[in-house]
Amino acid sequence: MPFSEANYTPAAAIPEFLIRHTTLRQLQIFEAIVRLGSFTRAAEELFLTQPTVSMQIKKLSDSLGLPLFEQIGRNVRPTEAGDELYHAVRGIFQTLSHLEMKLSDIKGVRRGRLRLGVITTAKYFAPEVLGEFCQRYPGIEVALKVSNRERIIERITSNEDDLYIIGQAPIDQSDIITYPFAPNPLVVMARHDHPLAKETNIPLARLAEEPFILREPGSGIRDTVLHLFENKGLRPKVRMELGSNEAIKHAIVGGLGISVLSLHTLALEGPDGPVALLDVQDFPILRQWYMVHPKGKALSLVAQAFLDFSLEIEPQLRQRMQKQWPDLAAQLAY
Ligand code: PGA
Repeated sequence: MPFSEANYTPAAAIPEFLIRHTTLRQLQIFEAIVRLGSFTRAAEELFLTQPTVSMQIKKLSDSLGLPLFEQIGRNVRPTEAGDELYHAVRGIFQTLSHLEMKLSDIKGVRRGRLRLGVITTAKYFAPEVLGEFCQRYPGIEVALKVSNRERIIERITSNEDDLYIIGQAPIDQSDIITYPFAPNPLVVMARHDHPLAKETNIPLARLAEEPFILREPGSGIRDTVLHLFENKGLRPKVRMELGSNEAIKHAIVGGLGISVLSLHTLALEGPDGPVALLDVQDFPILRQWYMVHPKGKALSLVAQAFLDFSLEIEPQLRQRMQKQWPDLAAQLAY
């Protein structure tokens, strides 16, 4: 309900049990459980133990006098009271986040908080960009959440951060504003001494014979790779699934197989590291990062400053890639 004098209720008229016994922390935990559909995921997101999460929900439910969740099979779902509370809690947090933004704006760009949600490959450059940004604005506090594509899209939908970086444009862009950012090509990686490392123009069908290390469900890279194989009527011979680009690189070096990852995952070691790029038909897959925020979201001064700053230093990222991988960069007609 929009705020107006007519529907305003002074705090003195709010029931005692809500004012005295319910804490914002409990509401935060409750909100995370409903949004993520799991006590475990909420505990992970909030860096709490599961017993703490369960205890706080018990206290909240006791003070409201109604159960908030029901267990259906292995899933938890909010009860009718839980649904009502969730609706109210979202309004409370939206108001608080708006307040935070207003207060930051009063303080100016020199102070305030920036919340960024980025997909896994952006972690290879986002901290650097943030480092330079924080040098320019030392009073800014930054929270960086790194997740796979599915989780970042969930965060965009529930408006959890100021800005997001995703690895390719979403198909439906009706609710978001996107700013194209630096190239994010996908390449095939193998250990330097892999027999295919000496071959050129390798057909995808040949790749499908090799043990393959695939990212976890929910990963944008995984979806792109599986689509490519599927379009050619092929399937990779998946030897294992791993939920981290770094773990996949180690598995490649350990001789467990080949994989497809973003070129940026090799940003630190460059072409002289233990991982080689294979010359495979249909690769590199040309993709691009995007800075994103929901349409209609008023960016705080800090978020706007970060967006401008990132777009300003974007050419540096391209230059670094051109220097490290000149042959590959020449193929990327961005
Ligand atoms: P992912 O996304 O971590 O969801 O695979 C990475 C990317 O798209 O670059």
